[in-house]
Amino acid sequence: MFAALFAKAKKEKHIQKISSRIRWMTRQSDIKMVLEIESENLHDPWHEEDFLHFLYAQDCVCMVAEHDKRILGFMVYKLYDQKVSIINLRIAQCVQRNKIGTACIEKLKGKLQEGKREKISMIIREHNVTSQLFLKKQGFQWIETLPEFYDDTPEDAYVMQWKLDSALPNTHS
Ligand SMILES: CC(C)(COP(=O)(O)OP(=O)(O)OC[C@H]1O[C@@H](n2cnc3c(N)ncnc32)[C@H](O)[C@@H]1OP(=O)(O)O)[C@@H](O)C(=O)NCCC(=O)NCCS
Repeated sequence: MFAALFAKAKKEKHIQKISSRIRWMTRQSDIKMVLEIESENLHDPWHEEDFLHFLYAQDCVCMVAEHDKRILGFMVYKLYDQKVSIINLRIAQCVQRNKIGTACIEKLKGKLQEGKREKISMIIREHNVTSQLFLKKQGFQWIETLPEFYDDTPEDAYVMQWKLDSALPNTHS
């Protein structure tokens, strides 16, 4: 669905970069398109009940990136006292490299507060080099390796983290 929609526009050079709006996920209208994007996840994709669990969890936030009433990506994160942990972040394959993932991270950075929540962390598969490069580009750094972290593969996981620089004003809002 997405591929057909955007490939044509890109081919005709109607759009060079797709801009998106990041907003809260709502069950009724969003979940179908979110599941379609999540189906591109080849490692243990989430099902509807997983999204519903996080949608209704009081300490979790689910957001979508939307363009022209289409969901292009989503992020799910958990709030801790001093940090935010990204549990899932995915952009539809056909619109990747359009800075939509960057917009999601920027949105999250804008929610951090000096003296309160100052860090964003994410656990990444050792083999997911794309995401490691993406997070590095966002200013994240490796802080820890979790050996043989996953049930489905023997690979390790890396914990990557971004920290609000208390010396600088938060310019990401
Ligand atoms: C990782 C992911 C969220 C990136 O989202 P995106 O919207 O495609 O990324 P952006 O366009 O914002 O990329 C910003 C920068 O990250 C780096 N980057 C992103 N994808 C990359 C890739 N495939 N290879 C190398 N670098 C990449 C680049 O530096 C890029 O800047 P550039 O395009 O100017 O070179 C997306 O590829 C995705 O959903 N992957 C599958 C799910 C996943 O692995 N989730 C974990 C997320 S951390």
